[in-house]
Amino acid sequence: MVKLDDLVQFAKTTGYIFQGSELYGGLANTYDYGPLGSKLKRNIKEAWIKKFQKETPYNVLVDTSILLNPEVWVASGHVGGFSDPLTECKNCNQRFRADQLITQHDSQVNADGWSLEKMSSYLAEHKVTCPNCGQSNWLPIKKFNMMFETHQGVVMDSASKIYLRPETAQGIFINFKQIQRTTRNRLPFGVCQVGKSFRNEITPGNFIFRTREFEQMEMEFFCKPGTELEWFKYWKSFCMDWLVNLGMKKDHLRFDDHRLEELSHYSNATTDIQFEFPWGFDELWGIASRTDYDLRAHQNHAAQNLEYLDPQTNEKFLPYVVEPAVGVERLVLAFLLDAYETEALDDGTTRQVLRIHPALAPYKVAVLPLVKKLHKEQAEAIYMMLSKHVDAVFDETQSIGKRYRRQDSIGTYLCVTIDHDTEETETVTVRHRDTMAQDRVKIKDLVSYIEERIQY
Ligand code: GAP
Repeated sequence: MVKLDDLVQFAKTTGYIFQGSELYGGLANTYDYGPLGSKLKRNIKEAWIKKFQKETPYNVLVDTSILLNPEVWVASGHVGGFSDPLTECKNCNQRFRADQLITQHDSQVNADGWSLEKMSSYLAEHKVTCPNCGQSNWLPIKKFNMMFETHQGVVMDSASKIYLRPETAQGIFINFKQIQRTTRNRLPFGVCQVGKSFRNEITPGNFIFRTREFEQMEMEFFCKPGTELEWFKYWKSFCMDWLVNLGMKKDHLRFDDHRLEELSHYSNATTDIQFEFPWGFDELWGIASRTDYDLRAHQNHAAQNLEYLDPQTNEKFLPYVVEPAVGVERLVLAFLLDAYETEALDDGTTRQVLRIHPALAPYKVAVLPLVKKLHKEQAEAIYMMLSKHVDAVFDETQSIGKRYRRQDSIGTYLCVTIDHDTEETETVTVRHRDTMAQDRVKIKDLVSYIEERIQY
């Protein structure tokens, strides 16, 4: 697989992803998505909505606020417990997450859910060293709350304190009753949401893998208690299939099922889909069976009944929930790493090709006049025709060979070339990114030819 530094460079030079605020010297761990990256992100979100909501008739889509009543976060446990264990090297004053130091020290040890005392003893007993200066001298571990605080209105006192949401899920739970009432959906059904989340991470890094501002795609799937483990299994394979059907290589993916003792207190089953990043397998997608923990917490804290009335049995109960939650940027990174390839050609040269699924490719088709002076007008007309149906790009600079290579490297799925025969025969050449094979296609058939090949 490609090295992370090479991918960062590729993303920057092609217009996928830029360092955030670069003009002002940058802002650490922030990124801007350029002309290609913004389309890739949008396509990933659309592919997710297509499968999780549109093609799953009992699921619906919502878009809730980033700013919520702070009591939401008290009820959900985030104010009290959404923290990471923070420690500091006494020698160089660098700060780290204690659980990550432990896993870096021994990859077989997962300190998730350990008490602060247990982590402190481990650091001391195993003489875990500072990744920055190599000393082993740690300050006591503290809990560091990752919620981003801000203030609403003109007065900055404690009464005006609110939070940027650290997950999109709670916006769904607090609207459960209204969604169910207005859709009249019966259990089971899912509520999907795509939106920004914010976490004041202690150690962001690995490019866009862990950042403080990111987008999540979460679904809360509400079902009858007792059926949740079946649904958990169902959504687990649904998520994996979504990745594989979008071209991700199976051997870059695996499940990491959490053992009983690793489960959060509210969960009776959890797994992560891990992707093989350049630093090893790491979490891409979390799938958790969350019981009725969240609905019950809001029911109690808001003193409002959130029960569901089963129209068949007349029973009232709080639904159980299965939640697949994934980060859009993590998917961007995984899809780019998975697709980036340097291919050796028969003539001894190499070509850079991004073999990304056509549904995700920023451009489905590039329109290329063979000779700028002669074919520009016809090419522009074809571009205008195609761009009404698919994402297209017009490319007229440099030789045709160089343009093919450029489009291959950014993942454009097809290249349409307008040449000397186009006018007379009303045909164009269509070249395929993956095979480099070429077809001659009638202009009138071009849209359906392309649409058939980019179906997902
Ligand atoms: N509602 C459950 C929840 O938010 P999570 O495991 O904390 O669960 C779900 O987050 C997914 O969101 C992760 O698997 C990851 O893909 C993404 N994610 C979480 N924190 C992130 C961060 N700081 N930067 C980028 N993506 C993140």
